[in-house]
Amino acid sequence: MVESSAPQPHNEIQSRAVTAGVNLAALPKHVAIIMDGNGRWASGHGMMRLVGHRQGYKTLKRVLLEASDLGIQYLTVYGFSAENWRRPEEEVSGLMRLIEEAARNELNDLIEKNVRVLVAGDLKTVPPTLRNALNDLIASTAENTGITFTLAINYGGRAEIVDAVRALLRDGVAPDEIDEEALAKRMYCPSLPDPDLMIRTAGEMRWSNFLIWQAAYAELFVTDVSWPDFGVDNLIEAVLAYQERDRKFGALSS
Ligand code: FPP
Repeated sequence: MVESSAPQPHNEIQSRAVTAGVNLAALPKHVAIIMDGNGRWASGHGMMRLVGHRQGYKTLKRVLLEASDLGIQYLTVYGFSAENWRRPEEEVSGLMRLIEEAARNELNDLIEKNVRVLVAGDLKTVPPTLRNALNDLIASTAENTGITFTLAINYGGRAEIVDAVRALLRDGVAPDEIDEEALAKRMYCPSLPDPDLMIRTAGEMRWSNFLIWQAAYAELFVTDVSWPDFGVDNLIEAVLAYQERDRKFGALSS
């Protein structure tokens, strides 16, 4: 017998997820992704690394819409880390151009799809044209009410914590008044709930300085699939794995 209280699928992605065993009433609210493996994907196909990043951009466009259709409310992705500047100049400038192109080209589509865009990271040191494109994207989508898509650009988790500590000092917060809430509200995107599920592609079992404050209790899902090959079934698999975990937040199992 079908339980009448179980939420019914509203679209193809949700039907697919339900068929795979996903409970639509217990989706992770906030999913964060470390989109790794673009370079390896490209060399595996005998192509330049930047071709892998371009393919990764296509995957990202698709996954954002799939996550939204599935019912995920917040998606945050690691687009460029504070450590990625150490890559060869050609790759760094290629990535900057690609992200700027994406920000400009996707603007109308993101508005139409009701996506709200936020950016986490230090934009002071990115090329001004990229900074402007990202600020346009944030401003033009600010009133949207669908999925919140956060791009981490020039983002480092430790740097974010250092910036938050600086803000505490600038605000004159006394040592005794400093608590987790005071620090949390000085992070780059304080309106975001903490991620529930952190996905990493391409097999590496590392955090790589991504959302290290916010992901304290996130469930980690690592897949060997490279980011350009990450498909909707991989997303569903990650959500299923998440739903099978027993989230205890330091307490005992219920
Ligand atoms: C890691 O793969 C990926 C990145 C450093 C960049 C992620 C960028 C994209 C998905 C391109 C589009 C982004 C936006 C925001 C439009 P890697 O190069 O470290 O792969 P490897 O470990 O195989 O070398």
